[in-house]
Formats: sequence, structure tokens, C-alpha cells
Amino acid sequence: MDTNALDQFVEAILASRKYKNVSQDFIESLGSQELAKHRSLKEAVKVTKNKLHQIGGAYLEGEIPYESWLDELRDASQQQYGERLRQSCMRMMAYHASTRERLPILEQFYTILLADLPPINTVIDLACGLHPLAIPWMPLGEYVQYYAYDIYKDMTNFLNDFMAIINIQGYAQSCDVIKSCPTHHVDLAFMLKAIPCLEQVDKSATLHLLDTINADHLIISFPVHSLGGRKKGMPANYEARFRELVAHKNWSIERFEFASELVFRIAK
Ligand SMILES: C[S@@+](CC[C@H](N)C(=O)[O-])C[C@H]1O[C@@H](n2cnc3c(N)ncnc32)[C@H](O)[C@@H]1O
Repeated sequence: MDTNALDQFVEAILASRKYKNVSQDFIESLGSQELAKHRSLKEAVKVTKNKLHQIGGAYLEGEIPYESWLDELRDASQQQYGERLRQSCMRMMAYHASTRERLPILEQFYTILLADLPPINTVIDLACGLHPLAIPWMPLGEYVQYYAYDIYKDMTNFLNDFMAIINIQGYAQSCDVIKSCPTHHVDLAFMLKAIPCLEQVDKSATLHLLDTINADHLIISFPVHSLGGRKKGMPANYEARFRELVAHKNWSIERFEFASELVFRIAK
């Protein structure tokens, strides 16, 4: 790989307003893939920006005012997990399409999926988006440690501050979860609606992640329609592929269907 071309590639992506906060490691790994496939740097940059849009940018409602959100959250958190804090978290979750479509089912989602599990004291949240803002709805242990990962640095910085404000231990980190999947043992792992995005970069990512994640329980989900609202037989296709991938695993798998999300709960 021509390191000069890779440096120019990274510089070109980071120069764009939309992608200036994407983890550099992730851009470098996209660069190695795309520079090998395309004849010019310009073409590789263009294809990569399209890809970044599909796997991340398209879900976000423009630039997020994280600083003012933190002021609001500090103010609202004076009453822990009170109504004001929940209202603020819901308003903020609406800025990311994935959490926005979960808002109408927020209460039932965590009750149905988590309430009958053994106590949850450690959690990883892969390709988290703004999902940690739903912590106030989750039945977690009092001293839970929550570890969240996404490619956006500004988002994970914000989530670190958010967790400090609501007194949750753990951290959020910007990284490519395909290359740097956490391996520490946890009670629960979330990988919500992430697989279609991860597979756009690496077709074998799902099996690798399912095998590597060191969790007693995994909550894996798929969207039931595209961002544009089309169904296109999506849930059936995702389910068939998922079942094929886990067919030879000796895991217990339960299926849950919500209005906006198809969920599988795995006990390893
Ligand atoms: C469809 S959204 C799901 C967000 C969240 N899990 C939820 O369901 O609310 C996909 C998220 O994956 C993140 N993402 C995509 N590729 C990633 C990668 N290789 N490593 C870490 N995060 C990634 C995107 O930035 C985006 O926030």
C-alpha cells in the first residue's frame, strides 16, 4: 500500500464536515480497501464518502449540538432518572434514525428483552449510535459498567460526558468494532441494527463478531424497513441469513418482533 496515497485519502475524508469526526483507524482501513479497488484517489474518496453516508451519516440529523445537550442533561439530571431527564434523552435520541424509530416502543423493548435475565452489571454496546441515551429505561444493576463503541469521536465524547452526568461507570470509545471488537467478559452485549452497516465494509463481520463478543447474553437486532421506509421483504431476508450463520452454534436463540425492529436474544 502506498502510504502517501493513504495519507492523502485520510486527509481528504477528514477535511469533509460530515466525516471530520470519524475514527482515523476506521478511515485508514476503508482506505486500504478502496485504494486497492479504484484507479484514482478521487474515485476512492468518493466511494468511501458514499459508504460512510450509508453506514453512519444517513442516520444523523445534521450536526448535533452536543455542548448544549450536555448543559441540558446536567440541569435535568438533578433528579436521577426523573421525568425531565427522560424527556431530554428522548428528544436527543430522535436525532439518530435508529433510536428515533425505537422511541414508541422504548418501555416495552427493555422490559421484554431484559427483565427476565440474571442481574446485568456489565454491558457492551457495539455500533451504539445514541443508544446509551436509553440507559434510564434499562433494568440494569445499580453499579453497572457500560461500554459503548461507535466510529464517531464527537458522539463517543458526548456519551462519556453523558454517562458521567448520570453516574454510570464505563466509557464510550471511538473505534471500528470489526477490527477492534472488545473481548472482555460482560453480562450483556447489544448489537442493535448494526449488522447491515458492518457488512457493507466486511461481509464476514457478523460471524466474527458473534464469535468474539464475550457476553453471556447478546441482543442482536435488524431494522424491519429501510431508512426510506420501504419494507422490501427485509426482515425475512435478514432472519434467513442470520439463522444460516448461527445454524451450527450450540446457542439458545429467542426471537422477538417489535413494530420497528426484529430482535434475537442469544444465550451463549
Ligand atoms: C443503524 S445505526 C444503529 C445504532 C444503534 N445501535 C441503535 O440501534 O440505536 C448503525 C451505527 O453503527 C455505527 N457504525 C457503523 N460501522 C461501524 C464500525 N465499523 N464500528 C463501529 N461503529 C460503526 C454507525 O456510526 C451508526 O451509529
